[in-house]
Amino acid sequence: MTSAVPQVVEAKPHTPVYTMHKYFARRPWNVFNELITHYSTAEDIVLDPFCGGGVTVVESLKLGRKTVGVDANPLATYVTEMECKPLNLHFFQQTLLDLGQKIEWEISQLYRTRCARCGSEAVADWIEWDEATGRMLQVKYDCRKCGTSRMGIPKPHDLKLAKQINENFAKNVRQRKLWYPKTRIPIGDKTNSLLSKNVNFFYELFTKRNLLGLSILLGEINLVEDRECRDFLKFAFSSSLKWASKQSHLRGEIVEGWAMHAYWVYPKSLEINVWNTFRRRTQAILRGKRYSNEQIGKFFTPAENFNELVIGNASCLILNQNSTKLPFPENSVDTIITDPPYGGNVNYAELSDYWHIWLNEGKIIDKKSEVIINKTQEKGLEEYESLLSAVLKECYRVLKPGRCLVSTFNSRDIRVVASFITGAANAGFTLHPEGLLYQDPIRSYTTTFHAMQIGAFVGDFVFTFVKENARHVSYSRQSLVELKETLVASVAGAVAGEITEPQLREQAYRSLIPFLANKARVDRVACKEAVDFFEAKMKEREQHFGQLRKRIVAKRKRKFSRRG
Ligand SMILES: C[S@@+](CC[C@H](N)C(=O)[O-])C[C@H]1O[C@@H](n2cnc3c(N)ncnc32)[C@H](O)[C@@H]1O
Ligand SMILES: [Zn+2]
Repeated sequence: MTSAVPQVVEAKPHTPVYTMHKYFARRPWNVFNELITHYSTAEDIVLDPFCGGGVTVVESLKLGRKTVGVDANPLATYVTEMECKPLNLHFFQQTLLDLGQKIEWEISQLYRTRCARCGSEAVADWIEWDEATGRMLQVKYDCRKCGTSRMGIPKPHDLKLAKQINENFAKNVRQRKLWYPKTRIPIGDKTNSLLSKNVNFFYELFTKRNLLGLSILLGEINLVEDRECRDFLKFAFSSSLKWASKQSHLRGEIVEGWAMHAYWVYPKSLEINVWNTFRRRTQAILRGKRYSNEQIGKFFTPAENFNELVIGNASCLILNQNSTKLPFPENSVDTIITDPPYGGNVNYAELSDYWHIWLNEGKIIDKKSEVIINKTQEKGLEEYESLLSAVLKECYRVLKPGRCLVSTFNSRDIRVVASFITGAANAGFTLHPEGLLYQDPIRSYTTTFHAMQIGAFVGDFVFTFVKENARHVSYSRQSLVELKETLVASVAGAVAGEITEPQLREQAYRSLIPFLANKARVDRVACKEAVDFFEAKMKEREQHFGQLRKRIVAKRKRKFSRRG
């Protein structure tokens, strides 16, 4: 049997290729790089049926593996493709200059202000608003004339300009034949927070000024003749959307774009200059493409279909489709490295609509096949398990015998983890005897607000499953009684020490997971009993962990705000 990777390396922050464009829950590149190195050799075909932000695909190409990335979410496959494709940097910069000559002045005029020091006309970089009262709070600008960079209270000319732009918005749009998506916000677990505040259209997440800036910019990008440059300028545009909406805000003095796994307008929102943010995103694209040109370069050859990977020169197939039915033969893939959705942890499709509507004529994403727990989509744990199982079954079919499916996974809800394990076991996979490791998160990202929500797991388990031809082998000798004893001891130990709920879960899962993996196919009743037993034990201590959480959150919040 293939040896399992002995340990996982410490997670490193994203490389420039992954900071070009947001995607939710990207995994650490160096960890996936290590996994690919360990579980495959050059020219092997590495599949990721949930490719998301493209980490498996990009790292596979860097290592000279052929790769297939599949995702049901069109934003995921779009971002992945743009990460891999080469770009002529020189030509891109030239085209960007041409674009700037056409529209920089016009867009910048939307943000004109006056320098308080020298009196010259300046351009605001952002304007802060009070959402409740609609009052303008601050204007930040850099004066080109005297070099002043200042955050100041708004002056009458700032208020007048904003008012004028609002009043003339409809006329401007009509006269210039500007387009922006008019899509109504659909109901959804994540969108309901907007609908309940009477935000009914996606464009209401933007100020009228930014809507004008964005539509002028997009309209002009669409006119760029060169296909490659146009595609990457549009990618920079799409990347700017993270910053251009009212979901941006100040954290201390730091300007932060949309950083939550939820739609969220802060009480004090930022209106960031569209051209400035676009310029910054083009610089990020240049850094990312310089990196991918160097690291992948000509090795990236897109395939039209799977056959071209096997017999042709192609190296990369990216498919936007449901992974429950993959268009390749059985026993054809060498390794699967993946990261499925963890229950309803991140609502990828609902959140991605925000970008999709801008890139696809206002259309929203078809969410039918999404593996997720989502009330609006009428997908509970059972539906989630059944969808995830269908993908894992398909993975089993296409994987070569004796080879591995390696997957990161975690959830605060052990039933979600059990669904994943059951799905893998029922598909035919066996958990490798050394196939369970714990991966700490990227250290510098653990202080983000999302990770701060105690109870959110911050690290991942790395599972190695094997497609064995042999009948099911049981590696764990632990009985249900023994497991229960272990769990009771873990909970008691956690209560005695200052161990948080997530830390305890991490510890308990180390015995629960192998148990579930071994029993899933032979004793579902024992699996259910183990899960219910653990949850009951946790419930008994709910109050203790609740209080501990409150204390720690308060402490972290103090630290977080001090750092600004
Ligand atoms: C956790 S993300 C993957 C993140 C990725 N590993 C990375 O590092 O960027 C899971 C992905 O599964 C995708 N997905 C959900 N259901 C799917 C299905 N039925 N077929 C293919 N992809 C699906 C989601 O759209 C999402 O992008
Ligand atoms: Zn000045």
